[in-house]
Amino acid sequence: MGTLLTMSKINRRAFLAASAAAVPMLPVITSSAKATVKSNAKGGPIAISSGNGLPAVTKAVELMRAGSQPTEAVVQGVAIVESNPNDMSVGYGGLPNENGIVQLDSSVMDGPTHKAGAVAAIENIMNPAQVALKVLRRTDHVLLVGDGAKQFALAHGFKAEDLLTDKARKAWLKWKENLNPNDDWLDHDQHIEKDPRQARAEQLGIPYHYGTIHCSALDANGDLGACTTTSGLSYKIPGRAGDSPIIGAGMYVQNEVGSAGATGRGESLMQSCGSFQIVQHMANGDDPTQACLKVLKWIADHTKRKVLLNSKGQPNFGATLYALRKDGAYGCATMRGGAAFTVHDGTKARRERSAFLYEK
Ligand code: GLY
Repeated sequence: MGTLLTMSKINRRAFLAASAAAVPMLPVITSSAKATVKSNAKGGPIAISSGNGLPAVTKAVELMRAGSQPTEAVVQGVAIVESNPNDMSVGYGGLPNENGIVQLDSSVMDGPTHKAGAVAAIENIMNPAQVALKVLRRTDHVLLVGDGAKQFALAHGFKAEDLLTDKARKAWLKWKENLNPNDDWLDHDQHIEKDPRQARAEQLGIPYHYGTIHCSALDANGDLGACTTTSGLSYKIPGRAGDSPIIGAGMYVQNEVGSAGATGRGESLMQSCGSFQIVQHMANGDDPTQACLKVLKWIADHTKRKVLLNSKGQPNFGATLYALRKDGAYGCATMRGGAAFTVHDGTKARRERSAFLYEK
């Protein structure tokens, strides 16, 4: 970590020069970052989450007020969304893989102990974040995958359930019936304005996304916890794990600094160690929004395949990053056009608009 911090300091001038030369988005970084820090650095309890996380932040703050640790609070918070059949990005009702099977990914990290737990490609278990928390608490490991994760969950009393709802099955069937060269088996390399799989799903009138809910929380003692949970990329290749179960990619906590998480194209977040980078930028003095924007810029600079870039050379995929600093300052930034995220700052739960790297 020390190396990363030092390099970050050395490279700051180069980064700012490169940003100023390359992108017309610096006013966005400056104005929204400053506004965010001024308005909310007031300590815990506080929870932030993705756009689908209003019930999660509400529950997390309620539980922390009642004495729960932040890690327990975020896992119970996201469970509401995992169990909701109408949210097709996570848990029960999540969109299945290419074979019509729902495979879920999740990770949890606890600030005070710096322990993490995760499960990837787990089937038939509605609340994978709770299984990830069991991995954290009941094993000396961090990540369990596939059938091993399921057997571990069953051994701990979780129920096996069919997670494929009729709505998700019908969407998958339509997808399957309309397969064409724009599936996940990439066989071409040309600039593409918009993710062709997204465009095809829109044409078919079915949902398609990288889904996911992230939730980070800070309690009144200044302790942090985080959780990310998802059904992952819709209609994915069976066995594909995204960033959500990968510590440092889908979420990361360093109790003396802050917490971060991600939603969106998991491959880009794994290849950037996105959440780890955000926390290190905050350790180096960046406010949460600026830390998120720096990582999005890093991802954009390191996306090389034409098929992932539009004709302006910008990523054609989505990624949204969330950060919560130890003093209660929080921020969120998205690759393009801004996104809704949710926060409960101890007074009330609400939606806010994120900063962004590129205009829509
Ligand atoms: N970020 C969720 C996924 O890529 O699976």
